[in-house]
Amino acid sequence: MIEQLHDISTHDESRQGEAYSQDGNESKEYSGKFYIESYGCQMNFSDSEIVASILNKAGLGATRNHEEADLVLLNTCSIREKAEQTIRKRLQDLRKSKASNPGMLIGILGCMAERLKSKLLEEEKLVDLVVGPDAYRSLPALIETANGGQKAVNVLLSREETYSDISPVRLDSNGITAFLSIMRGCNNMCSFCVVPFTRGRERSRDPLSIEAEARDLFDKGFREVTLLGQNVDSYRWYHPETSEAFSFANLLERVALIHPDLRVRFSTSHPKDITDDVLYTIAKYENICNYIHLPVQSGNTRILQLMNRTYTREWYMAKVDRIREIIPDCGISSDIIAGFCTETEEEHADTLSIMDYSKYDMSYMFFYSERPGTLAAKRYQDDIPEGIKKRRLQEIVEKQNRLSKESYQQDIGKTYRVLIEGDSKRSKDDWMGRNSQNKVVVFPKPGDRFKKGDYAMVEISGATQATLIGKAV
Ligand code: 5AD
Ligand code: SF4
Repeated sequence: MIEQLHDISTHDESRQGEAYSQDGNESKEYSGKFYIESYGCQMNFSDSEIVASILNKAGLGATRNHEEADLVLLNTCSIREKAEQTIRKRLQDLRKSKASNPGMLIGILGCMAERLKSKLLEEEKLVDLVVGPDAYRSLPALIETANGGQKAVNVLLSREETYSDISPVRLDSNGITAFLSIMRGCNNMCSFCVVPFTRGRERSRDPLSIEAEARDLFDKGFREVTLLGQNVDSYRWYHPETSEAFSFANLLERVALIHPDLRVRFSTSHPKDITDDVLYTIAKYENICNYIHLPVQSGNTRILQLMNRTYTREWYMAKVDRIREIIPDCGISSDIIAGFCTETEEEHADTLSIMDYSKYDMSYMFFYSERPGTLAAKRYQDDIPEGIKKRRLQEIVEKQNRLSKESYQQDIGKTYRVLIEGDSKRSKDDWMGRNSQNKVVVFPKPGDRFKKGDYAMVEISGATQATLIGKAV
């Protein structure tokens, strides 16, 4: 109920624990097989594609069946306690596979590896490898160590690593939309968040390698790239010779200019950092999607201060105004936390009212989960009882449901340009795609007029909670 809505940006609940396989060419030329499952944010799913590329070069091919794998990897998330519990449970299941296949190695990648480090090896005896997000290049060496019977750990964080020279292996891709990571790490230090500790300092990837990757995707038939970073608006790259700065707005423009039929999306934006420059760039290029994921977290200034978000309620509302002014038909979505330390009922009501003000099309909604080592865990008491957190979250979810419904109803009668991603889940007779605002659009196939990757003009005639229904015109 709570995390059900799908989105490109952070946590797509339908994809948690997704196993990857390589389309078609499974294994033959490889000396062994690996299996990988991904949890958490889009960045993690994108990292799994880098891991796959590294492992392919080391002679391992992907399989979708963990029982036949020589190496089983879980790319993990630490964002909330529940995320870590899910992974602990998964390890329990894998115990059986390991019992029947003792030669199999089990590795933990990603944020949980970084947070718990070698403690994970003590706590989870069946784990052989622990590898943090900046250490994937060392995987082949670590696998060798583990194959030799020793436990292998590398959780070093880096100030430079961006994997920019590694061409990700697109796993289980629809062939039309792809994620492209443009930076790593985060310097923001939101007090609730474990990410600065698990993913290290912020660093931006060389724009030429980003552009080359996007161009290559377009040449391979992809029609949409989503530029990924924890805080894309602080993307900044300095030319090594001229020291000239290259901003996120510059990058957006460069990628948009590759081809008018290549759509560009991005995530995540921070309200304190998104600039008018970025908004004007979105407005200028038809193929930069009119959609911004702008997490508010709370609608109350005192709570925002405790969260170390560095903006006020008024500042956030002014950003929303600015977006609506420069990009009138822009979709906006959010992340919201209920029941942060010391939050009163009035402060919670401020969150509900800022949702009304912002008219989000969609939100990811959570109750606060204290994470060890974060600023909030050190400074504040997690003093809101779970029952109250859950009731407040429920009110936020109900508010969002009403807002989503209104937003989707208002689209009836409009005509949108839709990028076709494939068959609809329900029927092979219908196409599924998205409009610029990131809303899913389903419409009956008009004979064989279109194929996957085409753009169709679709007139909207109806809407459910999270889908627009229409007809090609
Ligand atoms: N508790 C609850 N939600 C959290 N998020 C991040 N840390 C926590 C936490 N400790 C949410 C924020 C963030 C999203 C990715 O997850 O809303 O934007
Ligand atoms: Fe992504 Fe944060 Fe989870 Fe790490 S902890 S996988 S950065 S959401």
